[in-house]
Amino acid sequence: MNLKSDKKRLLALFKKQYGSAEGVHVALAPGRSNLIGEHTDYNNGLVLPIAVNRHTAVLFRPQQKAGAPTVRVHSETLGSSDEFGVDAIKPLKGGENHWANYVRGTAWALAKRGIKLKGGDLLISSDLPRGAGLSSSASLEVATGLALLSLAGRDMDRQALAFACQEAEHVYAGVRCGIMDQTVVARARPGHALMLDCDSIAVRHVPIQLKGYSFAIFDTGVRHKLASSEYNKRRSECEHAAALMKHKTLRGVGFEDLAKYAGKMNANENKRVRHVLTENMRVVQFAAALERGDVEELGRLLHLSHMSLSQDYEVSCAELDLVVMELAKQSSKDHACPGSRMTGGGFGGAVVALLKSSAFPAYAKALKKSAKGGSLLLEPGEGALVQKL
Ligand code: GLA
Repeated sequence: MNLKSDKKRLLALFKKQYGSAEGVHVALAPGRSNLIGEHTDYNNGLVLPIAVNRHTAVLFRPQQKAGAPTVRVHSETLGSSDEFGVDAIKPLKGGENHWANYVRGTAWALAKRGIKLKGGDLLISSDLPRGAGLSSSASLEVATGLALLSLAGRDMDRQALAFACQEAEHVYAGVRCGIMDQTVVARARPGHALMLDCDSIAVRHVPIQLKGYSFAIFDTGVRHKLASSEYNKRRSECEHAAALMKHKTLRGVGFEDLAKYAGKMNANENKRVRHVLTENMRVVQFAAALERGDVEELGRLLHLSHMSLSQDYEVSCAELDLVVMELAKQSSKDHACPGSRMTGGGFGGAVVALLKSSAFPAYAKALKKSAKGGSLLLEPGEGALVQKL
């Protein structure tokens, strides 16, 4: 979203919904694409995502009417509204995936951290595709969090906000997600990938030096129902495996532990651990290759990551595998795509590919059938911000 060109449209929408648009501010949060380090965050491992050039905008202004502090919120994108008092926030009944629960959950998590929330009028507009693996939910949470903090006249450390948003997702959406998405949405820098150590929460902004190459998203357009239940299942398998190896998380585990305890774990647990250990290594190698602009190495690591996610972690699906294959097929003709892999939680969603920037239009066309959800050339952007509209 571009605030300069979208400003008029957004203000008109706000006015239509709430009568006037005076004194409106906006919290703008990007989506994210993970370059590498998949299903490692909740294992206290390493991840390397970027913020993307698609956003959730939350327009807001203080409550106009006297009375109990109330948040009114309307989603332009989904055409529906919600309203809740800030003094007794509860999840909306009937569907954990309801967009309003991300708003309520974020408000609840901030209140839990001692923020005295105030009432306000909120309007959400987003150009982020939902379910495409670009983390529209973390983007909505962080933008909402910044808007509510602003209304309350409070500031919060960005990482603390990310943790609050993560808790909102655990409790109000029922997904035991890691901390990657909310962190990169809140803390990314333009032109950089964000390397996050999910154990120490140390962050390194890694410059992306890719002459003539970009990352692009190819969205399968499918989202399988089992995504969140299988996600939680993978997390439990990893926790169980770590406990068997007498570690709190898989971060402390090495290949020697895997060899030692292989016989004690079932076949799935063995595979899950192997994915996490090798994926953490690939993140380190990928960050180094990114800094020296080594596209061949980046492509190799993307492919290895996909194989590992597909065979060891078993979170890919036929549609994702097809997009990866089609990209490789296209590249066998023009050598423009050194590698690609599924990105995000899996079971549908998108593939991230390294691609010659000039070849993007031809690839978008060639992949039209398998990437039904469309394609997007990514520009690593900046994290969430608040400004007057
Ligand atoms: C989802 C979660 C993240 C992360 C990825 C897989 O996007 O929200 O925390 O676990 O899946 O890497």
